[in-house]
Amino acid sequence: MLGTIPGAECVRLSQLFTTLTNGLFAINTLPLPFTKFGKAIAARNQILEHLKKVVRERQQNPTKDTLSLLIQAKDEEGNSLSEKELIVQAVLLLFAGHETTTSMLTWLCVELARHPEVLKRAREEQLQLASKGDLNLEQLGQMPYLEQVLLEVERFHQPVGGGFRGVIKDFEFNGFHVPAGWRLLYSILMTHKLEEIYPQPESFDPDRFSPQRQEHKQYPFSLIGFGGGPRICIGIAFAKMEMKIIAAQLLRSYHWEILPNQSLDTVFFPSNRPKDGLRVRFQPR
Ligand code: HEM
Repeated sequence: MLGTIPGAECVRLSQLFTTLTNGLFAINTLPLPFTKFGKAIAARNQILEHLKKVVRERQQNPTKDTLSLLIQAKDEEGNSLSEKELIVQAVLLLFAGHETTTSMLTWLCVELARHPEVLKRAREEQLQLASKGDLNLEQLGQMPYLEQVLLEVERFHQPVGGGFRGVIKDFEFNGFHVPAGWRLLYSILMTHKLEEIYPQPESFDPDRFSPQRQEHKQYPFSLIGFGGGPRICIGIAFAKMEMKIIAAQLLRSYHWEILPNQSLDTVFFPSNRPKDGLRVRFQPR
């Protein structure tokens, strides 16, 4: 997205980013050098400094990345984004576009390791496609089972727990009167666990999304890992393609094993992930 070349700079940015996200939901918000919050603020300032430098570099020499596209973008009146706007857009894209896919792919690894029968079916689908040629755009549209698995990971381990909406018109809901001007939180987590939509919601079952069952089609907005309505995730198509490519490559070319002595309990903050992160050993097949 920023056109950063893999290497020391990337590692430093990634570390700063982790420190920032660790302090994002801190309870103790004293900005002291030793609190999580204080460390996050310091990391954020370093990231902003770095982004300022990168924006200026890309303005001089545009490269093939999202930031360079944003720099060149103009509205109908020919206005460009200001430096400040470019920097905040870059921060948003880093968080919205990185933490979320990382979270879903992490849980995909876990669930495939936990459910050998699902892994077997997903791998068979990939090996069959691989026998016809290398992974390409056309093949990405021919993986119905992997799509089902990713939908179930989205339902079961939604990277984002919910979102806010402003109420523009009074309405009644379940006997409650909600006045205009209120702010509401819609819960992705609770929606995905509703028994009337998803029977046995606590079982991981990609076949819920099979052509015969289509459990998410009974009511609108039943599967909302990417939000819904006019403000649905802008990166949804990109994220789904990115995750499919990575999943397909893993299934085709690797075995993996979840290492012992780690907790796979879910923690939701700063992002939905296993408590100890995920230590996993990949081996080429
Ligand atoms: C698994 C991956 C992802 C998930 C689960 C996810 C989820 C979400 C959710 C729940 C929202 C809020 C939608 C709403 O308010 O109803 C959102 C918004 C957004 N997402 Fe994503 N996202 C993902 C990947 C990405 C990627 C890859 C990008 C960019 C490259 C991205 C950029 C954005 C942006 C810019 C918004 C704000 C859109 C707006 O307010 O109009 N997301 N995303």
